[in-house]
Amino acid sequence: MIKTYTPSDHRYIDMPYRRCGASGILLPAISLGLWHNFGNVDNQDTATDIVLNAFDKGVTHFDLANNYGPPPGSAEVNFGKILRSQLADYRDELLISSKAGYTMWPGPYGDWGSRKYMMASCDQSLKRLGVEYVDIFYSHRPDPKTPLEETMGALSDLVKQGKALYAGISNYNPEQARHAARLLREMGTPCLIHQPKYSMLVRTPEEGLLDVLDLEGIGSIAFSPLAQGLLTNRYLDGIPVDSRAARSSSPFLTEKNITEELLQKVRKLHELAVNRGQSLAQMAIAWLLKDKRVTSVLVGASSVAQLHANVSAVRKLEFTNEELQVIEDILA
Ligand SMILES: NC(=O)c1ccc[n+]([C@@H]2O[C@H](COP(=O)([O-])OP(=O)(O)OC[C@H]3O[C@@H](n4cnc5c(N)ncnc54)[C@H](OP(=O)(O)O)[C@@H]3O)[C@@H](O)[C@H]2O)c1
Repeated sequence: MIKTYTPSDHRYIDMPYRRCGASGILLPAISLGLWHNFGNVDNQDTATDIVLNAFDKGVTHFDLANNYGPPPGSAEVNFGKILRSQLADYRDELLISSKAGYTMWPGPYGDWGSRKYMMASCDQSLKRLGVEYVDIFYSHRPDPKTPLEETMGALSDLVKQGKALYAGISNYNPEQARHAARLLREMGTPCLIHQPKYSMLVRTPEEGLLDVLDLEGIGSIAFSPLAQGLLTNRYLDGIPVDSRAARSSSPFLTEKNITEELLQKVRKLHELAVNRGQSLAQMAIAWLLKDKRVTSVLVGASSVAQLHANVSAVRKLEFTNEELQVIEDILA
């Protein structure tokens, strides 16, 4: 563990910053997510090293949610400790986000999108993080049973109370995003950002969402850009025991998902990446950033080496039309 941390003087040299929609905020092209690898079950020295190395490389944006861990809430507590012990002097250089929307505590008020849940959850997140405000507070998912006016009203009020600087939405479809954007605008709290799942293997945002965000002046940050590790060299030769697919109890990436058919595509993508002079992970990140509507790519990392490899993606962001076509052919 780094005892007395001094950030690198070069931290703002290599990372490009991209405007988030029509807002005043610039996001690093690559941001760090703390869904996995920052819970109480994880090595805290490694977690600290990943965060500090990210900051050294110009990653100013760290993404959390109430339920990140495990156990839920522990990623916020652990990130809060890193903030206090190492980054206390740099709060104004950091953009910290949190979210509420998934199950957090028992009973009828610990889930979804009611005002009751959103307000209480934000207060809990601020306490766990040990901060006076978060930079972005998200509705983590749309709630089909709560009026959108109520959920957006809670986000807007959190901003007006100074508990969050900006409001965001995640996992909203194009129609829901347009509706949320209108409500927030009417409330005087423009929606800053949408956080959709987007990667070479999950193309849903191309089916209307990115167009809506562009039209509404809302930025976007792509989550699981490496398809949780599938779009890296991690699984090319089997399933390593320390990989997410082997370790995690998450239903989102299991050994069963890693089919031979998928691996064949991944191997071809890997070959193309190597021909471009980068790793598959770096190509997967660059591929998302080719679209100016994607403000930032929200990666995860289980080691400093992965973090370093991922931020180096910015060294080669261009694609030839031929390369883009090869990618389409492989993914078809
Ligand atoms: N809004 C939402 O609903 C939502 C949902 C999911 C995620 N998110 C956000 O998005 C963030 C990123 O999601 P994610 O963790 O699924 O992203 P990801 O970048 O697709 O996957 C990260 C995982 O891939 C592997 N990896 C990363 N870089 C690698 C490299 N260079 N070489 C080999 N393997 C590499 C690591 O897994 P190993 O453990 O196998 O090393 C790492 O933990 C989350 O932390 C969270 O902030 C939001």
